[in-house]
Amino acid sequence: MNFLNLNLKPKSPIISGNFSSKKKFLRVYRWNPHVNRKPWFSIYPISLNRTGPMILDILIYTKQYYDSTLTFRRSCREGICGSCSMNIDGTNSLACLKSVKSNTKFITIYPLPHMYVIKDLIPDLTNFYSQYKSIKPWLKSTEIFPIKTNENLQSKVDRLELDGLYECILCACCSSSCPSYWWNQDKYLGPAVLLQAYRWVVDSRDNQTTERLNFLNHKMRLFRCHTIMNCSKTCPKSLNPGKAIALLKHKLF
Ligand code: SF4
Ligand code: F3S
Ligand code: FES
Repeated sequence: MNFLNLNLKPKSPIISGNFSSKKKFLRVYRWNPHVNRKPWFSIYPISLNRTGPMILDILIYTKQYYDSTLTFRRSCREGICGSCSMNIDGTNSLACLKSVKSNTKFITIYPLPHMYVIKDLIPDLTNFYSQYKSIKPWLKSTEIFPIKTNENLQSKVDRLELDGLYECILCACCSSSCPSYWWNQDKYLGPAVLLQAYRWVVDSRDNQTTERLNFLNHKMRLFRCHTIMNCSKTCPKSLNPGKAIALLKHKLF
């Protein structure tokens, strides 16, 4: 392990408080395809008096004051865009929703596990998104709606079926925590995409349910799930992709 950047001093002013009681070390996995070097760790001393309370605040602070080459994705900073997913202290999560633990000295961050890395904390999600595309994630309906309203209405009960599904932000925390997905991600769709597939199967406005189920009825695409349930444990939006997969399988029995 290389200890880098320990001698760097932040350029921002100290805001207030006791530095030592709020001192942590941020340890980040680094890899740069343009540098002829194996992956390494960078370690930065952080004073929580100078940053916001979330892991993303610390990463932004580090990039701004210590090392502008540190690379990660982020956009909304409120758990909506799904772009800041990473492995934080051993758990896949969203950096903007994860607060700093008070009882540890180190914060250790890796990219999402078992994904190809583009640079530092940025995983390559090309395969993940092409799998998402394969389930045709849009409403497929041959019905003609009344000209007057031009709306495809749903009853309140039918709408309730989508709760716990439509909130998925496709962050890939669940898929990259699933051992079945780690070893077969070229064939197994993984929990995120299967939760999305279930979302369209149970949508009362969609009338391509049989075609959707026929596509999923495959020993690798769906039935490679062995109910390990890491996916539901790790989801930062508290969704239950493991349950959605079980309900999908149930529809096929
Ligand atoms: Fe992320 Fe949860 Fe959706 Fe999986 S189910 S992609 S962990 S929001
Ligand atoms: Fe994987 Fe979740 Fe199934 S962790 S094996 S997708 S229940
Ligand atoms: Fe959008 Fe974290 S920055 S989910």
